[in-house]
Amino acid sequence: QKQGYDWFMRKEIFEQPKAVADTLLGRLNERCELVLDELRISPETLRRINKIVIIASGTSFYSGLVAKYAIEHWTRIPCEVELASEFRYRDPIIDPMTLVVTISQSGETADTLMAIRHAREQHAKVIAICNTNGATIPRESDAVIYTHAGPEIGVASTKGFTTQLIACYLLGLYLAQVRGMKYGDEIDALLRELERMPAAIQHMLDQQQQVLDLAREFVDSPSVLFLGRHVGYPVALEGALKLKELAYIHAEGFAAGELKHGPIALINDGLPVFVVVPPRGRDQLRDKVISNISEVRARGAKTIVLGEADDAEARAASEVYIELPKVSTLLQPLVSIIPLQLFACELATVKGHDVDQPRNLAKSVTVE
Ligand code: F6R
Repeated sequence: QKQGYDWFMRKEIFEQPKAVADTLLGRLNERCELVLDELRISPETLRRINKIVIIASGTSFYSGLVAKYAIEHWTRIPCEVELASEFRYRDPIIDPMTLVVTISQSGETADTLMAIRHAREQHAKVIAICNTNGATIPRESDAVIYTHAGPEIGVASTKGFTTQLIACYLLGLYLAQVRGMKYGDEIDALLRELERMPAAIQHMLDQQQQVLDLAREFVDSPSVLFLGRHVGYPVALEGALKLKELAYIHAEGFAAGELKHGPIALINDGLPVFVVVPPRGRDQLRDKVISNISEVRARGAKTIVLGEADDAEARAASEVYIELPKVSTLLQPLVSIIPLQLFACELATVKGHDVDQPRNLAKSVTVE
């Protein structure tokens, strides 16, 4: 039931504060330590892992890209992310010391299932991050971390994505904890910050009007670009995917640093370009992204910038500024993705498309 919303997708976008809170529930004890009892892979085994390979498709692949930045930073274990549909066809190097993490909202995606079967044949340990109890992928994995988003009915994944991010952060922090990484305060602070994320997401949802107006303004744009760096890069990719699948317009996400290596040639007068600016504290990266805003603006792009509320330089460089609350760099995707989801949902609505059932797409893709 849509409970007064026009689309399941919009309802699910607004359910994200609760979905994220539910996914965190019971996983932190009163000493702010992670409890992932469901992992069923012993700490000894997890201490021996020397490589992590994340395998997923579509939006779940993008949450895996964010996870790579977080997991490598916190655990110092090399981490690769691969599209499930590519994985087993390239004879990947995996062995019993490899931890495979598979991410799937439905738990039934055929490409992902085939990839983990292949990984298990090579005796890798497989942890599934999944939203569907008892689905095939978690059943065929060694362990599962469920996201507690509740059923996702809109074909475009929204609360699936943000809760996958939470599960990935929890896994990364748990691995750091069992492997005795000495970040003491940093990990504690992050765990506490995770608990504040439902409120931060709610804050973004409360500002929706600005994004809805933007969607109306750009309804006739033939193309939209998204730029980001570091964890903002997967957010750019996910923002573009949402727009393609719902609004059926050309949209692309780029790593902002790649702009000068080609994509800048696409910029023309009036082209909407979303840019995700990293939080302050990542100043080297942030400065470069702010220069990118000026570069595309000088070539006529209409820049819509997502940055911290008190980042005066990012604001000054942009035409439209969407304020983000102050959060750690690695957690920023949880808030920066919200306006991009709302933008795609609204633009498709204004165009008169069926947002919950976009053409040519199915909720779970059970053929390779
Ligand atoms: C995009 C979307 C798809 C899925 C992909 C993987 O909005 O929903 O890209 O993310 O088909 O699906 P799961 O996560 O069920 O394996």
